[in-house]
Amino acid sequence: MQTYETERVRLRDWLKADLVPFAAMNADPEVTEFLPGPMTRAESDGFVDRIRTQFQERGFGVFAAEERESGEFMGFVGLAVPSFEASFTPCVEVGWRLARAHWGKGYATEAAREVLRIGFAIHGLSEIVSFTVPQNVRSQAVMQKLGMRHDPADDFEHPRLPKGHRLRSHVLYRMSNDGGAANA
Ligand SMILES: CC(C)(COP(=O)(O)OP(=O)(O)OC[C@H]1O[C@@H](n2cnc3c(N)ncnc32)[C@H](O)[C@@H]1OP(=O)(O)O)[C@@H](O)C(=O)NCCC(=O)NCCS
Repeated sequence: MQTYETERVRLRDWLKADLVPFAAMNADPEVTEFLPGPMTRAESDGFVDRIRTQFQERGFGVFAAEERESGEFMGFVGLAVPSFEASFTPCVEVGWRLARAHWGKGYATEAAREVLRIGFAIHGLSEIVSFTVPQNVRSQAVMQKLGMRHDPADDFEHPRLPKGHRLRSHVLYRMSNDGGAANA
């Protein structure tokens, strides 16, 4: 897998040394507030295995994100293919998850902007989406800063969650490969 660099972030292959800090962030209730819930060490390690398989099968996936200055593992930013069915699938999504210590610095947006560029320019994607729950304002702020567009007509109920679940309603943001917006 190729490594990519932005001004402050390195997007790279997963290392064995990432497993401990990744499990720590996946066990942090603040990080998983809008996700199905904190993960165990085994679940977190299994997630990395699936990420590796995705890279092998599709040629893209979610990168390990490292702070260039310190060399510290921060979390992930990258591309994924949702496995559930909805009106907008099949599709490719851009996603991010950083350890709490690395929030509030603009790293997610900086890295995701590079991931959009990679998706469009290198993988030839025509559209990249992103979705989250309406309560996840921070994640939506990243989508907006990237120049992704939200059409309320695309909002959906996550098919994997039962009716009435607090995380069932989702907002969908899209960006198409029409140039410009990814670098806005
Ligand atoms: C979603 C998530 C990645 C957003 O992280 P973030 O740090 O808020 O996002 P950004 O990288 O865009 O950083 C923006 C913040 O950095 C600040 N910032 C500081 N220096 C900056 C710089 N040089 N450039 C840009 N922003 C900068 C901004 O002011 C902003 O802070 P604010 O939100 O307090 O106003 C993070 O909250 C997270 O990992 N959440 C848990 C997992 C999750 O929910 N993932 C998404 C599931 S859909």
